[in-house]
Amino acid sequence: MKKITLRSGDQMPALGLGTWKADESTYPAIREAIKIGYRHFDCALRYENEKEVGRAIRDAIKEGQVDRQSIWLTSKLWNNAHLSHDVRPGLEESLMNLGMDYLDLYLMHWPVALKPDVIFPDKGSDFLSLEQAPLIDTWRALEECIDAGLCRNIGVSNFSIKKLKDLRNRARIAPTCNQIELHPFLQQKELVEYCLGERIAVTAYSPLGSKDRPARLHQDDEPILLQHPEIRSIAGIHDCTAAQVLIAWALQRGTSVIPKSANPNRLRENYQAQNITLSEDDMRRIGNLDRHYRYIHGAFWTIDGSPYTLTTLWDEPIS
Ligand code: A2P
Repeated sequence: MKKITLRSGDQMPALGLGTWKADESTYPAIREAIKIGYRHFDCALRYENEKEVGRAIRDAIKEGQVDRQSIWLTSKLWNNAHLSHDVRPGLEESLMNLGMDYLDLYLMHWPVALKPDVIFPDKGSDFLSLEQAPLIDTWRALEECIDAGLCRNIGVSNFSIKKLKDLRNRARIAPTCNQIELHPFLQQKELVEYCLGERIAVTAYSPLGSKDRPARLHQDDEPILLQHPEIRSIAGIHDCTAAQVLIAWALQRGTSVIPKSANPNRLRENYQAQNITLSEDDMRRIGNLDRHYRYIHGAFWTIDGSPYTLTTLWDEPIS
């Protein structure tokens, strides 16, 4: 199994299992995934299934299939716990849900802050601006969670180069990972290159296009990755599936990747993508598919009256 060495020296399995959108299927999916060989599980408080993830892992440990040290567990701080005194309780809540005493990696889920009593915003006054809840203050509280032994590594998610540079300039402990949406339609070459150059590992979310997203996150006429003729043609060359091409591409770029599946056959199929080697020509053909298309566009953070705009969220002009 390919591993990515983080700046702390810890080794994160490059292929992990995403748990966003896994609901009642979470427990059996994790049990099956462990049997197949998955050792990296990507969780978040907001996915509201940490209890099932934790129960499945603990049962596998109890039955002697794995031990805690061989599992890589990531979770994420939700946006309503960005104020310094809320950060450690946020992490402790995930630990309690998971029934674990430490996380391997804890990420700031979004560079967006909400008031403590808001889970998801429906009006502008639900937000805290970055002046009211500076990212560096949240980060310093995360650094203290490392000091306290609650997590081994800390990182961010959905951060731009600009936000990473700001953080790096002021942080005591540099971010170890940036988890971002990445797939052939959103290759973010500059951001990936920056991160890898700074020894910030990159994890690709929504690598298969997250077709099981909630309806409100779907856009009309969105392109479908798994059906793209170029991806399917490359799959034909390797006698594999389109999903395997997408996973192999992510791994070959040097990123970690966390496809979600709740189906035993697809879990196995995705895991076996580690054995596929794409040619230079395949990589070039996939490279040409970039269209800067976000499935997770972030507009839910930019509702009327919000202090955030798509431009300030992603730090890029919005076309
Ligand atoms: P399922 O859970 O039924 O397997 P992403 O990882 O980009 O968020 O995408 C997850 C979506 O892709 C889910 O709908 C998942 O469905 C589906 N999926 C996962 N693996 C495969 C695969 N190998 N082939 C087709 N669809 C897949």
